[in-house]
Amino acid sequence: MQQLAGATAADQDTLLDIQNLTLSLRDELGWVEVLNNVSFSVKSKEILGVVGESGCGKSMTALSILRLLPLRDSRIGGRIMFGGENLATCSESQMNRIRGRHISMIFQEPMSALDPVFTVGYQIEETLKRHFKLGRKEAAERAVAALDSVGIASPARVAQLYPMNLSGGMRQRVMIAMALVCEPRLLIADEPTTALDVTIQAQIMDLLLGLADRTGTAIMFITHNLGLVAQSCHRMVTMYAGQVVESGPVRDVISGPNHPYTAGLLHSIPDSNRARGTLPSIAGRVPSLRHMPAGCRFGPRCSHSAKPCELPQSIENAGAREVRCNRWGQLELGSVGA
Ligand SMILES: Nc1ncnc2c1ncn2[C@@H]1O[C@H](COP(=O)(O)OP(=O)(O)O)[C@@H](O)[C@H]1O
Ligand code: SF4
Ligand SMILES: [Mg+2]
Repeated sequence: MQQLAGATAADQDTLLDIQNLTLSLRDELGWVEVLNNVSFSVKSKEILGVVGESGCGKSMTALSILRLLPLRDSRIGGRIMFGGENLATCSESQMNRIRGRHISMIFQEPMSALDPVFTVGYQIEETLKRHFKLGRKEAAERAVAALDSVGIASPARVAQLYPMNLSGGMRQRVMIAMALVCEPRLLIADEPTTALDVTIQAQIMDLLLGLADRTGTAIMFITHNLGLVAQSCHRMVTMYAGQVVESGPVRDVISGPNHPYTAGLLHSIPDSNRARGTLPSIAGRVPSLRHMPAGCRFGPRCSHSAKPCELPQSIENAGAREVRCNRWGQLELGSVGA
């Protein structure tokens, strides 16, 4: 796995600044709050890891940034500042200019982004033509070059194939090619390697990090795999039950987590390939959205819980880091020695 050059991104400009993002969704039972005052930033060229168990709100944060949520059944509050615009409130036509051009996204399952009825080359060409004035020939050449850049052998031949003709690893490469072909400033990668086998996972991570480095693209890398974050990210954000509970430089957080939930996740690293949602070092489950604990949302699972934890916890600065736990200064949470 390719290693990054330490915390060199620390002083760079803020690219994306999310402030008090709140998201409510409507299902058959009515409205429910899915994200609660989520705040974090991504700096230019930074690799930011967003971690947490399944159901903590990672994907909903990503979909809020790109406004890929059903209009009538979602309500976004707070600010999502990118390039001087608030993505939480800007128009659909502005979002269409930003999606795929300045911010793009790759998903765990490439078939959800690829259209089965068009060749992969055509789909990359269409992405290019949506954002640049290009003729067919030039778009086709750039699509083949994009397939070549993600390590696909015989890219001109593969451009003529349909997604169903490709293996899972190849499809993920095609999706990366499509996501990066316009050289966006931010790539949101939502569990991009989770569906792949372990050897392919490492290849895809190396590919992503190498391409991002070359094009200067920042990555918001969503994963439940802390091992990958430790190897590949500059900073990390831990989410729990729709809130950010900790953030900071990866090396600092791993060598001394401030939040008991981050500590629990870290202790699960050696077995991080087990099924999602089953972390033996943290007993219990993420609370359901309609039955959130009144105080600290992690309280029912926390072995350090005490009287003050019965109140809702707000996020506090802890030096260059942030933590949502009133007891953080009193706890000895250890590290995994990474
Ligand atoms: N359409 C929906 N209506 C209501 N709740 C939803 C909907 N889609 C997802 N959720 C809930 O939102 C929460 C956050 O989900 P998600 O962001 O997908 O988690 P993660 O990506 O961290 O696994 C989960 O509790 C999930 O059940
Ligand atoms: S506030 Fe209390 S219950 Fe919540 S994480 Fe901190 S110690 Fe645990
Ligand atoms: Mg998800």
